[in-house]
Amino acid sequence: MRLSFSTVILTALVLFGLTAVALPPGTDDEISDRLKPHGNLSRVVAGATTGVEVAKAPMSGEEVYGQYCSVCHANGVAGAPLFADNDAWAPRAAKGMEVLMASTLNGIGAMPARGTCSSCSDDELADAVTYILDAAR
Ligand code: HEC
Repeated sequence: MRLSFSTVILTALVLFGLTAVALPPGTDDEISDRLKPHGNLSRVVAGATTGVEVAKAPMSGEEVYGQYCSVCHANGVAGAPLFADNDAWAPRAAKGMEVLMASTLNGIGAMPARGTCSSCSDDELADAVTYILDAAR
């Protein structure tokens, strides 16, 4: 089969036209802006890092209590003083925060050290103790 000259020209024009349409429009500056994957990527990575930092934000006393302490203190497991039980907590509260924190950090009786939250900071545990004491006031 032989292609006529005009068929070849027509095909060439169509291909040229398609190529022109496929190229994104814009000035040289706009095009070079679009060709900057590194800047965008580092922003994405920075965003991901920030996300991790946000996830590491300290837990509130209520959150620590809910995730760790309530396992025993909500139901009196192993003889744990009950949450919001004024009578159970009054004599403990009378010991003062320093003693209660020592008990919490080192463990006391059947209660394991740090109330089982080994990943909690001292501040988070202190907030949890404060949360428990406030509920029993
Ligand atoms: C495995 C069960 C258990 C868990 C989990 C637990 N506790 Fe306790 N907790 C106890 C028991 C039992 C006692 C009473 C111990 C005793 O006086 O012999 C106690 C007592 C305490 C006291 C009083 C200490 C004192 O000196 O009188 C505080 C404060 C306390 N817990 C805080 C916490 C906090 C905060 C958490 C969570 C971070 C927690 N507990 C998690 C079982 C637990």
